[in-house]
Amino acid sequence: MEQLEAEWPEAVGTHLQLKRAAKRYGDKVALSGIELEANPGEFIAIVGRSGCGKSTLLRLVAGLEQATEGSVYIDGKESRSIHPDVRVLFQDSRLLPWKRVLANVKVGVRDSLAWKAENALRQVGLFDRANDWPAVLSGGQRQRVALARALAGEPRLLLLDEPLGALDALTRIEMQRLIERLWREQKFTALLVTHDVSEAVQLADRVVVIENGRIGFDVRITLPRPRERDSGFAYFESLILKRILTQEKESYESYSI
Ligand SMILES: Nc1ncnc2c1ncn2[C@@H]1O[C@H](COP(=O)(O)OP(=O)(O)O)[C@@H](O)[C@H]1O
Ligand SMILES: [Mg+2]
Repeated sequence: MEQLEAEWPEAVGTHLQLKRAAKRYGDKVALSGIELEANPGEFIAIVGRSGCGKSTLLRLVAGLEQATEGSVYIDGKESRSIHPDVRVLFQDSRLLPWKRVLANVKVGVRDSLAWKAENALRQVGLFDRANDWPAVLSGGQRQRVALARALAGEPRLLLLDEPLGALDALTRIEMQRLIERLWREQKFTALLVTHDVSEAVQLADRVVVIENGRIGFDVRITLPRPRERDSGFAYFESLILKRILTQEKESYESYSI
């Protein structure tokens, strides 16, 4: 621990490491031999075909499930349950319909720290909706409230499981910009699962492709930020897409398409 602090003196985000992590459900191998390391403040996107194991990987890191083999380390310490510095954002906002917006953001925040919930709501631009019910918000606004709820806990590791998957194209772009801005300001480590390769290239320092429960490809996106949709962007996008599509052909029989 001391050594890690010395190595990353300004780090806010956690260091994350998975060593030989595997997850089986009965006979079904969902993940195997996962070796993955994220440096503090790094933004990693995880892509791959449906059913390849992306959400399982995120749930292991979140401590929502236990690895059948291997381990997850957060800041050099083995983590086998929910970690106080980790927050998760899912595809559906999971807001409590009987609580107003601000009360939803306060869930999990101590009363004495209620101002953190108000701040988080301001950061996502929804403080003026604090007293509304979740039901009157749009899907994008509900996701912003869920993001505020995650940020109110001041996460050092933010896990995002297809958080923008249900949003329309324009709202997605707005949310991508918001997530990138908050990540730059708050310097947490981020792990984003997405089926959208452009989104991965837009946001991540590294894109990891999972193929049938294993890491098949790990590419550093060396483009400057903010990213333009130029030839460099297209290069990375097609590099990753080709990899996913080739793999699709080779293991066609094991997938239902
Ligand atoms: N609770 C579970 N019980 C049994 N099988 C599961 C369970 N959760 C996931 N799986 C299986 O593990 C594999 C990976 O699932 P998942 O991580 O959800 O994939 P992805 O998020 O990439 O679509 C799939 O074959 C899925 O059916
Ligand atoms: Mg999933």
